[in-house]
Amino acid sequence: MTVVNKQFPEGFLWGGATAANQLEGGFHEGNKGLNIADVLPGGKERLRVLKEPGFNFEIDREKYTYPNHEAIDFYHRYKEDIALFAEMGFKVYRMSIAWTRIFPNGNELEANEEGLSFYDRVFDELHKHGIEPVVTISHYEMPINLVKEYGGWRSREVIGFFERYVNAIFNRYKDKVKYWMTFNEINSALHFPIMSMGFSIEKEENKYQEIFQAFHHQFVASSIAVKACHEIIPGAQIGCMILSAPVYSYDCNPENVMYALQEQQLFNYFCGDMHVRGKYPAFIKRFFKEHNVTLDIQEGDLELIKEHTVDYMALSYYMSLTQKKDKTGLEATPGNLLEGVKNPFLKASDWGWEIDPIGLRITLNQLYDRYEVPLFVVENGLGAYDKVEEDGSINDDYRIDYLRSHIEAMGEAVEDGVELMGYTPWGCIDLVSASTGEMSKRYGFIYVDKHDDGSGTMERKKKKSFYWYKDVIESNGENL
Ligand code: BG6
Repeated sequence: MTVVNKQFPEGFLWGGATAANQLEGGFHEGNKGLNIADVLPGGKERLRVLKEPGFNFEIDREKYTYPNHEAIDFYHRYKEDIALFAEMGFKVYRMSIAWTRIFPNGNELEANEEGLSFYDRVFDELHKHGIEPVVTISHYEMPINLVKEYGGWRSREVIGFFERYVNAIFNRYKDKVKYWMTFNEINSALHFPIMSMGFSIEKEENKYQEIFQAFHHQFVASSIAVKACHEIIPGAQIGCMILSAPVYSYDCNPENVMYALQEQQLFNYFCGDMHVRGKYPAFIKRFFKEHNVTLDIQEGDLELIKEHTVDYMALSYYMSLTQKKDKTGLEATPGNLLEGVKNPFLKASDWGWEIDPIGLRITLNQLYDRYEVPLFVVENGLGAYDKVEEDGSINDDYRIDYLRSHIEAMGEAVEDGVELMGYTPWGCIDLVSASTGEMSKRYGFIYVDKHDDGSGTMERKKKKSFYWYKDVIESNGENL
């Protein structure tokens, strides 16, 4: 066991993270409506299918499976799961509310009581165990009705529906939830708008025009949520959430360094600038000019965005990205909806995501230097194949190694002066993978007996990492 001297602040928020669509199941229960995740096919082909223009957002059981429908059945087993989180000592639990449990079609006038009371029960159970919920308002689960009838976030009308949704949940949970965040990995739409924006790009379209207009609607919606949260729940904190992947230049050729900087600005900074600085950054004006983007910005939008900035920045971090202007002859590296070139200094996970703990320290420094607001690492982890031994044990030392090195990197960042609120590793209990719809890509401290073909007893088992993480939390990050 390594003992590090880096101190995590007192009250550091240790916990774990999930999203409704990836663990709840019960996709038709409690009057829930269909959302984007419900129509995503399972398996490694998921991303390819979704990237094809003309994806129709229909369920086609003849061709595909739909693992998110049952997921790991948290909907019925939340008490057992929360008790396990409590046993590990979680201070917080990051989860999302499924918009379609509250407004099944997204555009009703009244909220669905069954959905509201489900989350009441979950929050009460968490509090019973002394765990604070950290709630993502929209995590890749937009109502399918808004996708089909309005074109997702292309439509400005969706802002009004979102406003109704956030008002309903802030009013209902004002005494139960103090930490919120608006859109999960909002910047991921730059590469892949379906899951967070609810539309795909048609061949004839100017991709950037569509995406940046939809971003604008989301920024307005996010500011409305920040304003409402502060008014309805005094003392609550609300953040934005970005997919963070620091961009390295492949070499010191200034051409490549400039290219990497531009990727860094666009991918890692643009959405953060909008949420924290509250304005369109200078670099984006040239990008808009060069890509023929003209935004419809209505009166009052920019003032709203400026006035209602977030309290903290949440981020996911899995990997860094290496870029080169001319990629000819270089091996590509996939990962977390992104693609760069292979970094010769890094090893990769079984899914090809490059493992780079120092990249976490780099990204925390970059973001804190730029924004000077508290940062919260709300996703990080290793998707890996796990093996259940004959005696029932699961010895996931590879996961412990990954998490240890990333916690060490966070400790270094804290020493560097970064204000870090907490750490909620992704998929603290095994769940359905977002990019591939697989169960076999496991992240959890808790194993769930559920497999890619849908078989399994759903039994929960503690992995070796469960006991390790419990000790990490107990020692506030001293025992790694
Ligand atoms: C993040 C998402 O991109 O990465 C999660 O917010 C997702 O929803 C996680 O599950 C890991 O990605 P994947 O594809 O391995 O599930």
